[in-house]
Amino acid sequence: MKNIMVLGGTGFVGTQVCKQLVASGWSVTVPTRSSAANHAVKALPQVRVMELDVHDASALTQAMAGHSAVVNLVAILHGNADAFDRVHVALPQKVLRACIQNRVPELVHVSALGADAQNPEQCPSEYLRSKSRGEAVLLAAPDAAVMPNVTVLRPSVIFGAQDKFLNLFAKLQKIFPVMPLAGARAQFQPVWVDDAATAVVKIVEHTVPSSPQIIEACGPQVFTLAELVQLSARLSGVRGGLGRPVVALPDWMGRLQAFLMELLPGEPLMSRDNLDSMKADNVASGSVPGLQALGITPAPLEPIAAHYLSPAAGS
Ligand SMILES: NC(=O)c1ccc[n+]([C@@H]2O[C@H](COP(=O)([O-])OP(=O)(O)OC[C@H]3O[C@@H](n4cnc5c(N)ncnc54)[C@H](OP(=O)(O)O)[C@@H]3O)[C@@H](O)[C@H]2O)c1
Repeated sequence: MKNIMVLGGTGFVGTQVCKQLVASGWSVTVPTRSSAANHAVKALPQVRVMELDVHDASALTQAMAGHSAVVNLVAILHGNADAFDRVHVALPQKVLRACIQNRVPELVHVSALGADAQNPEQCPSEYLRSKSRGEAVLLAAPDAAVMPNVTVLRPSVIFGAQDKFLNLFAKLQKIFPVMPLAGARAQFQPVWVDDAATAVVKIVEHTVPSSPQIIEACGPQVFTLAELVQLSARLSGVRGGLGRPVVALPDWMGRLQAFLMELLPGEPLMSRDNLDSMKADNVASGSVPGLQALGITPAPLEPIAAHYLSPAAGS
């Protein structure tokens, strides 16, 4: 039996990764902070959801025994420098050590487009700097006799039926009469969640004989943030598809808006660090192979998003 551990397997991307792994005959272990939560992966055959503190190195090492591959999708979007460091740097380090101790031959780490393992401090946000340092830990010259084969996947923003960006833009425009938008001109190259998940499966299955060590996962088209907001309105039929007027906020006003959102209880819709991430366009660098290197032709956004954003999808 092929056993794989998927850290972050309960999340948006993780659920799709688990679905495709199960379809490919894998038996999947998914650690979670709360096994009582209503995770969709629980419904999948051959998936075992286990409550585990993945930050506890010895518990992680023990739980990883008997697995022949590991995928790490654990990440946070908001937090202070310590929280980013714990999740994006210390955790990958613990995952790598646990792989070494268990002689796990394959490790796939999902990072983010814009991360730069060579120059972490050049990245514009704490999110990207910590993602970059996490990559650097994994890609550093090995100091172990048996190292896993490490692959880093760097996706642009990811869309799919359960995404938290197109769905959110559509929802906000159903409520508010205008869309005051920070970072309106920032560029993205959205990738479909199924394509990102297929990439993970192809890497662990060695479908491509010499798969690159770092792969950028981007879709075929570049959009500005304002265009994505307008597209979400058109596809979800807000105001007959016209959507709401998008008001591009100047930088200082965008930062003030983000600061106020950070003060609200719960996960902020937008933080100042998120705005910092958008200072650099989130598009393929061209210096690293893309999904095509794995034999994947990335799907265009519109036909897929039309399917799940359409008013009929919710009825
Ligand atoms: N979604 C995107 O547009 C996008 C774009 C670029 C890169 N990525 C990357 O893709 C990966 C997956 O993203 P996603 O959108 O699927 O994320 P997600 O839905 O937020 O899922 C995150 C997962 O990480 C776990 N987790 C969160 N905080 C944790 C913590 N402090 N300690 C331990 N576990 C924690 C959660 O598990 P439990 O709650 O079950 O414990 C959850 O399964 C991440 O590495 C992300 O950076 C995503």
